[in-house]
Amino acid sequence: MMVQTMDNYQPILLPGIPDLHKINVYEKHGGYQALRKALAITPEDIIEEVKRSGLRGRGGACFPTGLKWSFMPRDTDKPKYLCVNGDESEPGSFKDRQIFEFNPHLLIEGTVITSYAIGARVAYIYIRGEYEHWVRLMEKALADAYESGYVGEKMSGTLGTDFKVDIYVHRGAGAYICGEESSLMNSIEGKRGYPRVKPPFPAQNGLWGCPTTINNVETISNVPHIIRNGGDWYNQIGAEKHPGPLLIGVSGHVNKPGVYELPTGVLLTDVIYKYAGGVRGDKKIKCVIPGGSSMPPLRGDQIEGVRMDAESLREAGSAVGTAGVIVMDEDTDMVRVLTRITKFYKVESCGQCTPCREGTGWALKVLERIRRGEGRIEDLDLLVSIANNIEGNTVCALGDAAAWPIRHTITRFRDEFEEYIRKTSKLAAA
Ligand SMILES: Cc1cc2nc3c(=O)[nH]c(=O)nc-3n(C[C@H](O)[C@H](O)[C@H](O)COP(=O)(O)O)c2cc1C
Ligand code: SF4
Repeated sequence: MMVQTMDNYQPILLPGIPDLHKINVYEKHGGYQALRKALAITPEDIIEEVKRSGLRGRGGACFPTGLKWSFMPRDTDKPKYLCVNGDESEPGSFKDRQIFEFNPHLLIEGTVITSYAIGARVAYIYIRGEYEHWVRLMEKALADAYESGYVGEKMSGTLGTDFKVDIYVHRGAGAYICGEESSLMNSIEGKRGYPRVKPPFPAQNGLWGCPTTINNVETISNVPHIIRNGGDWYNQIGAEKHPGPLLIGVSGHVNKPGVYELPTGVLLTDVIYKYAGGVRGDKKIKCVIPGGSSMPPLRGDQIEGVRMDAESLREAGSAVGTAGVIVMDEDTDMVRVLTRITKFYKVESCGQCTPCREGTGWALKVLERIRRGEGRIEDLDLLVSIANNIEGNTVCALGDAAAWPIRHTITRFRDEFEEYIRKTSKLAAA
């Protein structure tokens, strides 16, 4: 694996330039030059460049971005749409809001280039409902981009192009499920945020039945850099099969929680000890969830040598998800952690399909019973069985997101769960 020296790495998504959210500062640092370059080449060439870059989606599934764009039909009279996913509701994920706040024009520039590449004349930036402050920041940046002619009617004057795209900021209403791409489209259409059955996939049948591409905020923010410097340049950053910069949000029992921009492939232990200042009180690590609450947790003794990229984390038995690293020290009560996580998925289940609706509720009842001191050892196998019956049997991946933490927390921390039940429950041996 080729990993760029972490100490030499210069952040490109969050470069820390003062006032970069202001359009004149962004322009002064080369902003909107990538858009000019993009408009001078064909949409097909842009897609090829993004394919060459190796960029993979930062919204959780690591799907190759150029390939996704190539699914958009060229020979259609229907309008095409781009949805930029900034719902960011996964516990442990708080990286997209840094882009809204500190580099909104990078996102706008990426949105315009992507729209041109896929042939969309309308794009939506969908922002989590609770992010009112960041919605206002994005709306201000967007108004400035319109005024300067990088978006909308004035594009022909500023950029000398026939291409025109309108961008709308759309605010969610506080439901985690609306981050799921098909649910997000229903939400934009003004419908209840229920996920749709796939296929058909959004590139065939998306917003209002028209071809649609959905990408995460961080994914889209990489695009101007790829166009400006080339796919081959981008490909050299970080891990070979999952290249580029990664916004890693570190939370939990660390001394310096925050968002760190590092090349993919950085050691998870370096993220925790070198960048996030180590564990509070120099305690030992009991558990790390590397990619937001739905990703399988790793035991403290499983993280040595693990790197923050799709392949390395898969080999370790987890996944990169949204790169939201949650660190838990040796004093953490894993029964409480799993109960809290399961409650989140139970509350956020849209209720559309039975295994997810009933399974999350049932698992929560069992966990709460254990916490009340009424658990039985066989409850642990029951919980794993509930999780196994949810996974893969639902309309959307929220079911899997609920099942993975249950199965992996119980299997990886089984001793602690058994000890908890033996110590607290009169029914332990029943
Ligand atoms: C329950 C659920 C919630 C999701 N929430 C988000 C989210 O907040 N932001 C996001 O980008 N992707 C989220 N996703 C993934 C999206 O469905 C989609 O895969 C992603 O936006 C695609 O972008 P990418 O290819 O750039 O990663 C969620 C998926 C599920 C199943
Ligand atoms: S898996 Fe859960 S959230 Fe997804 S559609 Fe089914 S009930 Fe709704």
